[in-house]
Amino acid sequence: MKTISVLGICGSLRKKSANRALLEYAITNLPDGVEMAIADISDIPFYNPDVSAIPPSVTAFYQALAKADALMLSGPEYNYSISPALKNALDWASVSVDKTLVLQKPTALLGAGGSLGTARAQYHLRQVAVYLQLDVLHRPEIFCNAFQGTFDDQNCLIDNRIQKQISEQLVSLKAKVVLRRQIEQLGSST
Ligand SMILES: Cc1cc2nc3c(=O)[nH]c(=O)nc-3n(C[C@H](O)[C@H](O)[C@H](O)COP(=O)(O)O)c2cc1C
Repeated sequence: MKTISVLGICGSLRKKSANRALLEYAITNLPDGVEMAIADISDIPFYNPDVSAIPPSVTAFYQALAKADALMLSGPEYNYSISPALKNALDWASVSVDKTLVLQKPTALLGAGGSLGTARAQYHLRQVAVYLQLDVLHRPEIFCNAFQGTFDDQNCLIDNRIQKQISEQLVSLKAKVVLRRQIEQLGSST
């Protein structure tokens, strides 16, 4: 089986981000045949339709998206919604001339934040994903409370329940990519 590439996108730009730590945990617990990288969106400017030149940071982001078979979006909740960094990155993805960057891409959502574990932000994100036509996993949903001894002082995820959910999500994401490849193969052979 051809290796499955997952691209993690972290909605927080903070070095010690809990959301980044979730993606880093995923990287160290991948199912067989899956590889994963985290996109660098830290230098992506706010999308401005008046600026026609594509910034190098956006070109690099587009290249990472093009290489990815699946996405894992992990972001904080800011004022009950998606962080601007994540929304901006998705806005840039949506205006690319290459419509295949996100179209039907299997996508997992997760997040670490306050008491509702980013649930409100994730439901906004699901709505954005509808317009982008991302193929979002329904389950497992991962709503991680970042403030309950969930991470150790090295910012590593130590909560067994969330660890298990991330592993389950990766298995489901892999299965979605495999199914998608089978459907594409059927389509090309008929
Ligand atoms: C501007 C701002 C707004 C926030 N609003 C919320 C919120 O609505 N709900 C919530 O659960 N946490 C909220 N938080 C707390 C963040 O979710 C929390 O700090 C989280 O750990 C940040 O993620 P990170 O560690 O990946 O940077 C807010 C934080 C900031 C800076």
